Amino acid sequence: MEKYNDLKLLSENRLPQRAYYIPHSDKANAMTGNRFLSNKYCELNGTWNFRYFPTPLDLPDSVSEIKYSETLPVPSCWECYGYGQIQYTNVNYPFQFDPPYTFSENSVGVYNRSFNVSSDEKLYLVFEGVSSYFELYINGKYIGMSRGSHLQAEFDITNFVTRGDNDMTVVVYTHNVGSYLEDQDYFRFHGIFRDVYTLERPAKHINDIFVKTDVSGKYNVEITFNGEALPYTVELYDANNEKIDELTAPRLWSAEDPYLYKLLIECNGEYIMRKIGFRSIAVSDEGALLINGIDVKLKGVNRHDSHPKYGYVVTHEDMVLDIDLMKQHNVNCVRTSHYPNHPEFIELCDEYGLYVVDECDLETHGAEHTFGRRTDAAVASISDNPIWRDSFLERMIRTVERDKNAPSVIFWSLGNEAQFGSNHVVMAEWTKKRDPERLIHYERAAYYDNGYTEEGVTIHPCLDMISRMYTDIPETERKGREPNDKRPYFLCEYAHAMGLGPGELVDYWEAIYKYPRLIGGCVWEWCDHGIAKELPGGKVGYLYGGDHGEFPHDNNFCCDGLVFPDRTPSTGLLELKKVIEPLKITAIDVENGLFEFENRYDFLNLDKFDFTYSVVVDKDTVEKKSFTVSVAPHNKTTVKLDYAMPKTANEYARIDIDMTLAEDALWAAKGHLIAWGSFALPVDIVPVASNCKAALVENGKRFYTASVDALTYTVDKASGMISSIKKDGKELLARRCDITLWRAMTDNDAKRRKAEWVGEHVHMSYFKPHTYTSDETSITFNGVLGANSRIPLFNAIITYSFGENGLDVKIHAERDDTFLKLNEPNAKPDIHQIPRFAMRIPLVREFEDIEYFGRGNRECYIDYKEHSKVAIWNSKVTDEYEPYIMPQECGNHTDVKRVSLKSSDAAVNVTSGNIFEFSALHYSIEQLDRSKHAFELVEENSTELLVCYKNRGVGSRSCGPELLEKYEITDRVIDFEFNVK
Ligand code: GAL
Ligand code: MG
Repeated sequence: MEKYNDLKLLSENRLPQRAYYIPHSDKANAMTGNRFLSNKYCELNGTWNFRYFPTPLDLPDSVSEIKYSETLPVPSCWECYGYGQIQYTNVNYPFQFDPPYTFSENSVGVYNRSFNVSSDEKLYLVFEGVSSYFELYINGKYIGMSRGSHLQAEFDITNFVTRGDNDMTVVVYTHNVGSYLEDQDYFRFHGIFRDVYTLERPAKHINDIFVKTDVSGKYNVEITFNGEALPYTVELYDANNEKIDELTAPRLWSAEDPYLYKLLIECNGEYIMRKIGFRSIAVSDEGALLINGIDVKLKGVNRHDSHPKYGYVVTHEDMVLDIDLMKQHNVNCVRTSHYPNHPEFIELCDEYGLYVVDECDLETHGAEHTFGRRTDAAVASISDNPIWRDSFLERMIRTVERDKNAPSVIFWSLGNEAQFGSNHVVMAEWTKKRDPERLIHYERAAYYDNGYTEEGVTIHPCLDMISRMYTDIPETERKGREPNDKRPYFLCEYAHAMGLGPGELVDYWEAIYKYPRLIGGCVWEWCDHGIAKELPGGKVGYLYGGDHGEFPHDNNFCCDGLVFPDRTPSTGLLELKKVIEPLKITAIDVENGLFEFENRYDFLNLDKFDFTYSVVVDKDTVEKKSFTVSVAPHNKTTVKLDYAMPKTANEYARIDIDMTLAEDALWAAKGHLIAWGSFALPVDIVPVASNCKAALVENGKRFYTASVDALTYTVDKASGMISSIKKDGKELLARRCDITLWRAMTDNDAKRRKAEWVGEHVHMSYFKPHTYTSDETSITFNGVLGANSRIPLFNAIITYSFGENGLDVKIHAERDDTFLKLNEPNAKPDIHQIPRFAMRIPLVREFEDIEYFGRGNRECYIDYKEHSKVAIWNSKVTDEYEPYIMPQECGNHTDVKRVSLKSSDAAVNVTSGNIFEFSALHYSIEQLDRSKHAFELVEENSTELLVCYKNRGVGSRSCGPELLEKYEITDRVIDFEFNVK
């Protein structure tokens, strides 16, 4: 059998996994931690010779016969350079389920380069990541092989090299039997995608280091050697390189204060510096996660190593950018979904302060689609099948051994979505023995029918926590109250951030803060995976599953991040930042300046931060002052702010309170906003008077007309809709108005609801008048709202009145009884709810400037508005659009009282006594709904103003639970009034 198909051959001549470190030959350079300053380290990244073979049978008998006419960068993924097939598949395996075979046409990329050897020392060759399997040849001679794409592989090549030029060939196979264990949800890329380097070392040297620390300042360094034991010294330094002889009260490491000491080990002329942290991990009697004895909530995200142009290849700068953004948005935890991320990423988490859930490179999700979800057959196929046991275990060993010295790593994760079987138990047991301190995480054990139930203590005891994904909010609450199992409950994935959203974060966090056992979770996921496509004009668009002709694929299910592929934050990230912010401000008595400040940090006092308050009347800041607050972590205090209460405003007065960084941090500059509050001040509202002059309604054969000030309205008797608004003879409408119940379906709407709604033609609903009547100042239509071939959804009355307020529009809609009966539970698709209820006022394209009084400045929805502030905002229609990779509803604003749109010579103002919602975009609902990629959109020759009674919540149903009922639109009676002038 070919080696790549041979399950029994885990590797050949690969060295046992050791801790990640880079040795130096002198102390000063070692202390910098900069691997590039080590003369023992030689990076072999760069341009390599390359040749691509469609099948293994096309390879010549000897690698020395291969002629290279092409080159490829290392590290890289060869699909990004035109070789092979770009494929995005989630659960489904890309090949037939037929282990150990994958494809017989299993393409092979052969890499070759020369490298220079200038010493007689021992020489090691390290590969940090190769997908999926490779064989190594030095000077034409076979050295060994390795599988496990995201795991390290090290070879001792001393005896195969000579001084001077040497030749290296790496034969990389697209698939191998181990690919059955790498069925993660992502683009399937291949090649040498992480660093390759050699290490020169003395003949005898330290092999492995395992440092264990204790919050009392004790530490224990376990060292193994590549042969017999050698003498060595260990020294401890603080972060400023001051030597410490005895440490009694260490500054503890936490995500909030990631203080690192330096441990310097000298042995046989080698200096190895390892940064260490002192911290403890425990679980309280109530199931709370205790870091250094303090109950910590994990405010996490799931992160892949991903890049829109380079696939799995990430640079130092890319990783720092991700971490900067996470820290800037109050994230304190990252799950390395679903494999150990680049080793430098873990070191950066130590340094910047992020708790890491370090996950093994192991997922067999496709077995569930092959044999059925949660079936015994799926479990038996791999994870409970003893022939896979060694593969499972060795992947775990390699994960743990590489990262075991990282203070940031608090949980070991056995992998993702690989069912749950005895092979997992073996992994967990080995891990617990090797590293008793860290907690063991695995999600799949929480399924009912594989022997362990979700209730009580029956989840396998080898796991230190109950972990679930996408639990709904009521269930999350129940888990918080669970009396029988006191292990922590962790949402390893929640709030699926696909497209618009995630909504309901606020509801999740209310529950999490309530129960000690709910230790938090990680949003799925950090970043959209899209393949960058260059567009004319230097712009970039993004492609997803299916765009490269692959089979199978999962469309845009990979576009589910909080940041776009280029790391631009989407509104979802702002929402997360606000919901998990470390300060909660509650107004006690705004007239007297009394607020409660609750410090939700675990370790930091609020006196480390700057505070300011601003009193804002309409659009003017009338008072602004800095202040300080001292509150210990997990404590509250009442703060009195001495501002002068304004007396009146035209529209709105408020007080804003900001908490910002008082000093530069690694991840943001002084002044960076961390948390805020904004509260209405109760002042007298004295609106700017504006009495309109209205003319009498003229009753024509088909049209009514009426004027208010400079605007002349035409109302169509046939449709019951305003068909023209003219100012001084110039048309302001791009087409006639209508009532819509639709929005461009979001990824979250698309799950289930869309099919039901479209099946009932809700997207094609319109108002149909039965009767029209008028008097001198008003026009009334009586009719129904519904769609062709279906029973009407609502009976409706629309009244247009013209007077000194301008045009008043009144809509009264009521569910039709006939319809309701048909819609009894299970009798008909579930259309007792609708996506939205709005009047659409399509203005001409020249309306570009917006001023609104409501929530902004980014899009917001009823369950997705914590990040937004009620204020008087100015914006441009062009900027209101959010470029979700697959176009969908976006740009809504809630809690609106006024919106004004302006062109150079006209203005349309919509106000209401009640709050409403609006959006204004240069794209129609229809265009957003039918387009598959953002880059296909063409700006409409209109400004699509939607004056909205209600817009449905956002949720995270694309993978998560149904939207909470309180965010649905189920109104049986709708009374919606607004005024246009
Ligand atoms: C989970 C899985 C993730 C991802 C997500 C959906 O089931 O663990 O890898 O597929 O769902 O986006
Ligand atoms: Mg999966």
